[in-house]
Amino acid sequence: MKYPKEYLDEIKTRLKVSTVVSKFVNLKKRGKEYVGLSPFKNEKTPSFTVNDEKEFYHCFATSEHGNIFDFVMKTQNLRFGEAVKYLANLAGMQPYIFSKQDEERERKWKEYSSIFKRYVDFYHEELLKNETYTNVREYLKNRSLNKQQVKKFKIGYIEKKPNFFEKFKNDFKIEDLLETGLFYLDEKKKIYVERFRGRLIFPINNISGQPIALGGRIIEKSDYLAKYINSPETLFFKKGSNLYNLDLARKLSNKLDEIYLVEGYMDVIGLSKNGVENAVANLGTSLTDKQILTLNQFFDDIIICFDSDESGYKAALRAAENSIKELKPEKNISFLFLPDKEDPDSFINKNGKNYFIDYSKQNKISIHQFIFSHYKKQTENNPSSMAIFDKKLRSIANTIRDEYIKKYVLEYFLEKISDLAPHTSQNKKNYFTKKTKSLDVTKKHYNESHSLTAVELKEFSVLYLIMTNLKLFKENIQLIENIKIFTDINKQIFEKIILSLKSEDNTSISALDIDSQLIGKINKFAPIKYILQNKSNNEYEIIELLDDIRRDLNNYDLEFRIKELESKFSKDLSEVTFNELKELKKKQNIN
Ligand code: UTP
Ligand code: MN
Repeated sequence: MKYPKEYLDEIKTRLKVSTVVSKFVNLKKRGKEYVGLSPFKNEKTPSFTVNDEKEFYHCFATSEHGNIFDFVMKTQNLRFGEAVKYLANLAGMQPYIFSKQDEERERKWKEYSSIFKRYVDFYHEELLKNETYTNVREYLKNRSLNKQQVKKFKIGYIEKKPNFFEKFKNDFKIEDLLETGLFYLDEKKKIYVERFRGRLIFPINNISGQPIALGGRIIEKSDYLAKYINSPETLFFKKGSNLYNLDLARKLSNKLDEIYLVEGYMDVIGLSKNGVENAVANLGTSLTDKQILTLNQFFDDIIICFDSDESGYKAALRAAENSIKELKPEKNISFLFLPDKEDPDSFINKNGKNYFIDYSKQNKISIHQFIFSHYKKQTENNPSSMAIFDKKLRSIANTIRDEYIKKYVLEYFLEKISDLAPHTSQNKKNYFTKKTKSLDVTKKHYNESHSLTAVELKEFSVLYLIMTNLKLFKENIQLIENIKIFTDINKQIFEKIILSLKSEDNTSISALDIDSQLIGKINKFAPIKYILQNKSNNEYEIIELLDDIRRDLNNYDLEFRIKELESKFSKDLSEVTFNELKELKKKQNIN
């Protein structure tokens, strides 16, 4: 139900932001604004401000920002409608009355919710009290579910031949009873039957904690009954919009960034039993955009952890491809794959909370990494397979609604693909790990077994050029001062030379006290030697040569930093990292 804008504006005009906020936060006036300790963060110095003129609050510590409706929704964990009711009341206004249709819906909702409440309460009490349910008790015991979980999740048991319908048909209209989906008409026998008879029931609540649907599990193996059944969709229960346990889990959003999204009721309960309360389940259907958006309203990090079987993996992939569309800046979606045959329930029961949390920290992978690695596994190293791979990843990235994220993810995919492409892998990759064999001629001459990296060879060339032109560089020291040298030992020599060139004395190599073996190596291996042999050695040429090598070395440095940032970016997807990356790439192109 949508509130008319005028009604909301009326509330806003009647209530100053500071009036609303000061109900929950101690505010002090500072100039035109108010300041106080942030309600979104534990802090000692105030970083939370309220501006009545601009009608908003802003928290500098957490970047939380919004109007009075946002404020009560976020700090009091209310839904929009609830926030409106609360604020209207605070403003001394009547609750908004909706139209005739709204009224009929409202009436139906009252009936629906009270039927559900009585139904759930009744069978929950039955399970707690009824001593004859020995088979149910046995089942609960086998699954090590104790009273605490039964109570917390209001689990119930419905006997095989229940008569709730008969009992309550005098209190409610048949039509309203049927509307709940708890009963249906058996056409043959012409009687109303309870859909969940003979099952353990798990109430599914709306976000305010009122039951609106059920999941039901058989407790005895059966060949013809489904292990679980769920309520059909009703006027007030839409599968893709609700999540099991969201009503309880969302209350933790003040304290925790992460929410675990699992497959089953028992996973949520098993996690809770072991002390992991921030978990919800998606009710046996595939994950919808709406569910992701709802979770993101409360939590920044969604960790999807499905069963470790083929169907769980397939569901995870579907969830990834679907939910990447909704990826937002500052929000993460990641995937946690458990060891073979485990589901979150069995895994945490075996290993306990701490192990589960550690395992999760170490093993979760972000959504774009998961998608990349999944499709990479399907790809063979030939042009047509690579082309399909490339196309698939681009089309997935293109479904992302947020333009920033789309750009980042696309960039990530393309970068990773180009790393794989055979034509670039040889000359672009791994400057620092790949050993380039020394030049053939050098090899022949000196027959040394050991090989040098491309960077070392460049550095040798720099040192060689300097050592053979000491006078030139003493006079033009600015040309060499900021050359980047990577290798420790070469750097030591380089710095020694610079220091000596800067001093008054006449510099000579022999006075430098450099390990003669090293000098010998430089003289032998520096590739520049072969270029110089054919040149006239005029000063301009020397300087130009040096400049070329300097540029190459700086590029290695850039390349290295880009690699580092790329790996950082693939983990944090942050805008800051991305911009740094862009800057570096720009520089690389200029160089
Ligand atoms: P699972 O088969 O993984 O069940 O289905 P589980 O959660 O491990 O439960 P236990 O441990 O056997 O009791 C996961 C979810 O898929 C839906 C249910 O929502 C279930 O919680 N499901 C499963 C169905 O809707 N129908 C089924 O027949 C089976
Ligand atoms: Mn399972």
